Formats: sequence, structure tokens, C-alpha cells
Amino acid sequence: MDRPMTVPPAEGILGVLLPGMGAVSTTFIAGVEAVRKGIGLPIGSLTQMGTIRLGKRTEGRAPAIKDFVPLASLDQLAFAGWDPIPDNAYESASRAGVLRAELVERLRPELEAIRPMPAVFDQYYVKRLNGPNVKKGANWRELADQLGDDIAAFKKRSKASRLVMVWCGSTEIFQAPSEVHQTLARFERGLDERDPAIAPSMVYAYAAIKAGVPYANGSPNFSVDTPALAQFARDCGVPVAGKDFKTGQTLLKTIIAPGLKARMIGIRGWFSTNILGNRDGEVLDDPGSFKTKEESKLSVLEHILQPSVYPALYDQLYHKVRINYYPPRGDNKEGWDNIDIFGWLGYPMQIKIDFLCRDSILAAPLVLDIALCLDLAARSGWKGIQEWMSFFFKSPMHAPGLYPEHDLFIQLMKFKNTLRFLMGEECITHLGNEYYD
Ligand SMILES: NC(=O)c1ccc[n+]([C@@H]2O[C@H](COP(=O)([O-])OP(=O)(O)OC[C@H]3O[C@@H](n4cnc5c(N)ncnc54)[C@H](O)[C@@H]3O)[C@@H](O)[C@H]2O)c1
Repeated sequence: MDRPMTVPPAEGILGVLLPGMGAVSTTFIAGVEAVRKGIGLPIGSLTQMGTIRLGKRTEGRAPAIKDFVPLASLDQLAFAGWDPIPDNAYESASRAGVLRAELVERLRPELEAIRPMPAVFDQYYVKRLNGPNVKKGANWRELADQLGDDIAAFKKRSKASRLVMVWCGSTEIFQAPSEVHQTLARFERGLDERDPAIAPSMVYAYAAIKAGVPYANGSPNFSVDTPALAQFARDCGVPVAGKDFKTGQTLLKTIIAPGLKARMIGIRGWFSTNILGNRDGEVLDDPGSFKTKEESKLSVLEHILQPSVYPALYDQLYHKVRINYYPPRGDNKEGWDNIDIFGWLGYPMQIKIDFLCRDSILAAPLVLDIALCLDLAARSGWKGIQEWMSFFFKSPMHAPGLYPEHDLFIQLMKFKNTLRFLMGEECITHLGNEYYD
């Protein structure tokens, strides 16, 4: 990743394309509209609320991140999406029930104007879902071309100067890496043959990259992390990031586990269970979709705790994650964690967490930050995997041969140092020797 001489300013409109117009997407769009109208604050958004220290602690320089790097402003955003369910964003937000009805009513004209484009969808990949708003085509290639047409038409219609795409669609069935995912040539043959190992989310990622549109994956689906698409992104000079928005229980895990490890506290078991009743919960009730999510949620502790480096503390760790669909809760998920820990001489202790969470309220600011950061990366000439954006994801994408960095605090340091590097400021190591000369 080279430092550009200058980062071009974020002029004109930034179009945000959203495959999937369910709870997360509509909470994001409605939130941006509410902030624009001055009836809410973008809480939870690092780019909007965060500051960044520059130079020494004695210098007192800590600008807002959005003033330090040239990000698009909320007023410059335009939205479009795809969904097999034909509800417009007002209907979808009302159905999702995340935001209070009176707020959704106040935003009705803006939300009603956003109608989903027909989706590339096949129920084979999301068993618990069905909808009529679906594209027709002989193979994946034709469908990808239709997405390309949609992308071009939206760019024209919205007068956007730049676009980004953030997948907010459902979690698809688990896909193991196979031959068709390995090279672009093989992948493109798979598009022509409608290979079943290519899922709709991969078709969106392919179409975005082909159109030069930066792409991020907010779900745990195997898509832009296939070697074929990651390489395609590099070849096309397109930044990509993923995957799976870091919210809820996993967010807490990546806050608490690094703290326990920092104090060399042992962990014998970590049992996590959730009840949730939104559409995402219904989709995850299918074992195929759950397996995709489970893989994403389980990898977190392994990488943070490094049992091979600390066998006495974490070798015996039993980690279990359950998700239960429970309609009465809607989007207001409840997540329980029971953590069996041990301290000095192995004496056991327990931690219990009961997180009464609002999933999409935690996810919406991530969509905003990811969209703005992808656009910044593109204007900076950065291409391929954007590991500095790991902060936003449960399963951060990384270069081959590296392990992913899950620790939220290391991720934050990496994020801020990347911005300092980009703007020609010194990276901060926290060494602090100079204060004691
Ligand atoms: N809510 C969170 O906190 C959170 C956290 C991490 C990840 N995620 C992931 O984000 C995604 C969205 O979550 P949500 O709560 O908004 O779910 P949701 O079910 O409310 O919305 C998903 C939407 O995607 C649509 N969809 C499915 N397949 C599609 C396709 N091929 N093309 C276009 N649209 C398609 C569905 O019809 C649905 O409207 C899910 O994959 C979820 O696992 C959510």
C-alpha cells in the first residue's frame, strides 16, 4: 500500500449500492436521512464521532477523523439496492421494526423513493427466503451483466461521481472453497456454466469489481474472499473488504477476550447463546446458513487467545455458539455468555454477560464507515484487500499466509495509523521515550 502524493477530495455524490434491503440496510439509510435532518446523531460511527491524536501528547492535536481525512459527507450520499422482496425502504424499515414508527413516518418520502432493483437470487442458497423480485437469465454471467447495467443506470440517475457496494443481503448456505473459486479464468467459466459453487453474493461481488466499484461483504458469506475475486479486485485496481459486520456478541468477545488475555487469565470455556426474531434470525435457523455464521463467530477466540502460544491458559478452551430464532424478540436480540475463567494457581471464576442488544442499531454505523472508508481507499489508489478496515468485521480478510487480527484494540491502532500514514503524519507507537529524556 503506497502513500499517494495527495488524496483527491471527495467531490460530488457518492452512490452507495446495497444488495439486500432488509433491517441493516434500511436502518443505515434511515439513520443517514435522520442525521441529515438534524434529528439524530451518528452514534457508533468511528468516522463521524471519532477523533485521531496526531504528534506528541503535549501537542494537543486531536482532530475529528472526518476533518483529518477527506471523506465524503453524509449530504453527499445517494442510495440504491437490490432485494428479492419488492418492499420499498419505507415498507422494509416498517416491517423490520428496528426504528420507532414515528421516526420511520418522518422519513417516509425519502425511504419510499428507494425501491429495490430485481435481485440475483436463488432459494437454494437461502432456504428460508423467497421473493418475486428476481432477475432472469440463462447463467450467472448474464445475471452479472444485468447487475452491471443496474450499476451504470444508478450512476447516471443519481449523478454520482463514485460508487461503492456493501453487501447487506442474507447469509447464504456454507460454501467450502472449491476449484471454481481459485482463479479468475475458472470462475468465469463457472459463471457461464452456472456452477452451483458460485453463490449470488459472488455474482454481485464480481459485477462490482468488473464495474470498478469498491466492494465490502457485511455477511459471513464466502464471496470476495475467494482467491479468484480477491485477485480480480487487485487486477482491476478495486479495494475490497470483509467480512461479517462486527456487532453484538462478537463485538463484546473481541473487547473482553483481549483484556483477559492481557492479564494472563486462563479461559476453560466460553458458551454463547442468542435469541433473535428478525428475518436474519429466521434465515440463520436453517442449518446451512447457520454453519456459515458459526464459522465466522468461532474463529474469533482462537486467533485472539493463541492457544498454541499460551497452552497453559487456552489449550483446554471449549467454545460453543448457538443462535436460536425466537420471533417475539424481533431485532432486539438477547445474547448470553457464560465464561469459565481461572486465575492464580488455577482457581476457577465465572463471568456472565447478558447483552440486551439491538443488532441493526450496532450494524448501521458500520455500513456508513465501511462505505466511506472504501471510497477513501479507492481515491487513495489502494486496491485489493483492505486489512486496515478489519476493525469493522468479525472475520477480517487478510493476505494469504497471515492470520487475521481480531483484537479490537489492535484493529483500532492499525486503522488510525493507516490514516496517519495516508496523510503523511507519524504513526504512533505509544513508546513515549521522548517525554523522559
Ligand atoms: N444485524 C447485524 O447486527 C448483523 C451483524 C453481522 C452481520 N449481519 C449480516 O448482515 C446481513 C443483513 O442482515 P439483516 O439483519 O439486515 O437481515 P435481513 O434479513 O433483514 O435483510 C437481508 C435482506 O437480504 C435480502 N437478500 C437475500 N438474498 C439476496 C440476494 N441474493 N440479493 C439481494 N438481496 C438479497 C433478503 O430478502 C433480505 O431483505 C445478513 O447476512 C446478516 O447475517 C448482520
